[in-house]
Amino acid sequence: MFLPIKLKLLLVLSILVGFAFSQDLSITYNGFLSTNLTLDGITEITPNGLLKLTNATRQEKGHAFFPNPVTFKNSANSSAFSFSTTFVFAILSEYPTLSGHGIAFVIAPTRGLPGALPSQYLGLFNETNTGNATNHVLAIELDTILSSEFNDINDNHVGIDINGLTSKLAEPAGYYSDKNGLFQNLTLISGKPMKVWVDYDGLNKHISVTLAPINMDKPNKPLLSLPYDLSPILNETMYIGFSSSTGSVLTSHYVLGWSFKMNGVAQGLDLSQLPKLPRVGPKQKSKVLTTGLPVILIVSLSIAISGVVYQVRIKKKFAEVLEDWELDYGPHRFKYKDLYIATKGFRDKELLGRGGFGRVYRGILPSSKIEVAVKRVSHESRQGMKEFVAEIVSIGRLRHRNLVPLLGYCRRKGELLLVYEYMPNGSLDRFLYDQPKYTLSWNQRFRVIKGVASGLFYLHEGWEQVVVHRDVKASNVLLDGELNGRLGDFGLARLYDHGTDPQTTHVVGTLGYLAPEHTRTGKATTSTDVYAFGAFLLEVVSGRRPIEARTQAEDPILVDWVFSCWNKGEILEAVDQNLGLDYVREEVELVMKLGLLCSHSEPTVRPSMRQVVLYLDGALALPELVSLSISATGLSFTNPEGFSDFALSYPSSMEKAFSHATSIAESLLSGGR
Ligand SMILES: Nc1ncnc2c1ncn2[C@@H]1O[C@H](COP(=O)(O)OP(=O)(O)OP(=O)(O)O)[C@@H](O)[C@H]1O
Ligand SMILES: *[C@@H]1O[C@H](CO)[C@@H](O)[C@H](O)[C@H]1NC(C)=O
Ligand SMILES: *[C@@H]1O[C@H](CO)[C@@H](O)[C@H](O)[C@H]1NC(C)=O
Ligand SMILES: *[C@@H]1O[C@H](CO)[C@@H](O)[C@H](O)[C@H]1NC(C)=O
Ligand SMILES: *[C@@H]1O[C@H](CO)[C@@H](O)[C@H](O)[C@H]1NC(C)=O
Ligand SMILES: *[C@@H]1O[C@H](CO)[C@@H](O)[C@H](O)[C@H]1NC(C)=O
Ligand SMILES: *[C@@H]1O[C@H](CO)[C@@H](O)[C@H](O)[C@H]1NC(C)=O
Ligand SMILES: *[C@@H]1O[C@H](CO)[C@@H](O)[C@H](O)[C@H]1NC(C)=O
Repeated sequence: MFLPIKLKLLLVLSILVGFAFSQDLSITYNGFLSTNLTLDGITEITPNGLLKLTNATRQEKGHAFFPNPVTFKNSANSSAFSFSTTFVFAILSEYPTLSGHGIAFVIAPTRGLPGALPSQYLGLFNETNTGNATNHVLAIELDTILSSEFNDINDNHVGIDINGLTSKLAEPAGYYSDKNGLFQNLTLISGKPMKVWVDYDGLNKHISVTLAPINMDKPNKPLLSLPYDLSPILNETMYIGFSSSTGSVLTSHYVLGWSFKMNGVAQGLDLSQLPKLPRVGPKQKSKVLTTGLPVILIVSLSIAISGVVYQVRIKKKFAEVLEDWELDYGPHRFKYKDLYIATKGFRDKELLGRGGFGRVYRGILPSSKIEVAVKRVSHESRQGMKEFVAEIVSIGRLRHRNLVPLLGYCRRKGELLLVYEYMPNGSLDRFLYDQPKYTLSWNQRFRVIKGVASGLFYLHEGWEQVVVHRDVKASNVLLDGELNGRLGDFGLARLYDHGTDPQTTHVVGTLGYLAPEHTRTGKATTSTDVYAFGAFLLEVVSGRRPIEARTQAEDPILVDWVFSCWNKGEILEAVDQNLGLDYVREEVELVMKLGLLCSHSEPTVRPSMRQVVLYLDGALALPELVSLSISATGLSFTNPEGFSDFALSYPSSMEKAFSHATSIAESLLSGGR
């Protein structure tokens, strides 16, 4: 036999051990080659002598037991002997911060712990027998997972378990330094080998457990110190060994060496003889110099080249397109790079929503940390861009607490980015239609309505120039942190007026909000805004879209439906059912009637926003409307204050809805007042 000397020595040692067990057992394994342990589960001895309790397999367990029974006391009634054991272990995990479950040194009445489960049961117990006094099991657990069902203190602890997994005593893994007595943490799953000592004093009935890094002598102060009489736990003869289990993270648990001594101090392990742990991560070959060097050279060269190319690309990507006329708008112009960083590269995760003009992204400006919403408007034609930016910037100066502040813009080839203040509660429509997650109470809705009215009034009359919004609707009303309604998107519809060829027309505004004369003439005015505001009022009260088929009974055109309810004298039928009965009747009626009045087909009958604000505040009484008839061609009502009867031309509603406005170059800022 040409066995190495080390091996031969080990063989001799283990044969000696075999003879010694009957008296005061003494075993010392500096590595486990040619030992006669009883293995089960996924446990194996590696070719270099490591006791590999678990390999990288999920939800498995493994045991290694000294094959022969060990005498722990003289008779059933006598007290258990003293013993001591020491071993070196290591836990190698796939991830640095997660691992399988841990290792336990175990003394048990049987060799294999039949019926025990893996994972948090550590291969020791199962859910029915854990904690049962009939188990007669002592385990010292090195536990790397916090199992709250067993009251674990953390995910890195050492515990003394008697008959169950709820430790009698447990401490975070670590040791008390002999130098200064201070506690030093150790991480069980660090992959570094560590030593454990377990000592039982049969005279004083006391268990102590000590942990230390591999190259350190046994610290004087043990980590765990528990007065406990093991006599009732240990039978006359028991089996000693190790148990381990994996969970869902691939982990290997190793024991490198082990010694045990009955009625004495376990012999120290010879560190130089312990088998080496496998290297974590991919193996490094000695080929590094021969083939590695050229490869490294090529790789670093190509990294350098692609770095330069990348730099050039980045520079091009973030290049600013600045024209002379823009210089005046300096403070309102954002750098594309800043917006790119703010929105994490216009990542889909930051997408807030998309509208008729483009996508809206959430972002945080890198310098000021202000939260913003960035709207990307694609814009093919450069024509009109100058005027549009001029308008956007001048509108951007508008400040009102019911308008979404426009902070600035950024222009690039083919697109325009508009930067708005971020509104944490999103758009109002999310709270209204289609069984919303949250609905707003009537008080909240009424406050939003009043806010939007006041914002629109400000656009119409509060500034030196009249600003027509052109796209008033629930999805353009955003809610700030205090659920104030704020009008957004003002002036945007303008872009399409400028930029497009009048022959290929776009719908300016949104179906269901377009005043009849607007679709006829294509001219947006303050009255067309009032018309849209009317549709908005009905939307908020009834919780449905202006055009939407819901039931057979309801008219798909919201205005017509509310009108018919009102005509029947049951206007409250149209109230959003999500509100229940929790609303103020007078306010609801006021808002509905005002909504109908604003929706009048004749622009001159519609109130101005100034009047609307007064009606909503109750400062002005709403004129009484008297219904006359619903004919095939429409609704008509009079108002007793002397208007003549108007035949409302709703009926062509569908036609109205789908007729495309002829886009005309009518100024947004339609002159002074
Ligand atoms: N300032 C903002 N703060 C927070 N979210 C916003 C902001 N602006 C827009 N959004 C979100 O982005 C979505 C899309 O907005 P956008 O205004 O482009 O679309 P829209 O109003 O539905 O349609 P349209 O473009 O036809 O007016 C909105 O529904 C809203 O949820
Ligand atoms: C783990 O050990 C078991 C039993 O020895 C074996 O069947 C399995 O293939 C091993 N798994 C890995 C990943 O090494
Ligand atoms: C190993 O242990 C088994 C029982 O577990 C026993 O039958 C066998 O004889 C032992 N071999 C040696 C070499 O000790
Ligand atoms: C052990 O103790 C029990 C009572 O505690 C007693 O009945 C029994 O005889 C004792 N046996 C021995 C062997 O001492
Ligand atoms: C261990 O001892 C207890 C009582 O002392 C006994 O009931 C039990 O059967 C013993 N277990 C084994 C496996 O011998
Ligand atoms: C639990 O383990 C015991 C043996 O210790 C076994 O008898 C029992 O069947 C096991 N229970 C389950 C549910 O596996
Ligand atoms: C403990 O286990 C025994 C048999 O193994 C069983 O009869 C007894 O009910 C169990 N006790 C508890 C508290 O589960
Ligand atoms: C030990 O770890 C705990 C928790 O991880 C930490 O709070 C404590 O500061 C650490 N102590 C030392 C000495 O590193």
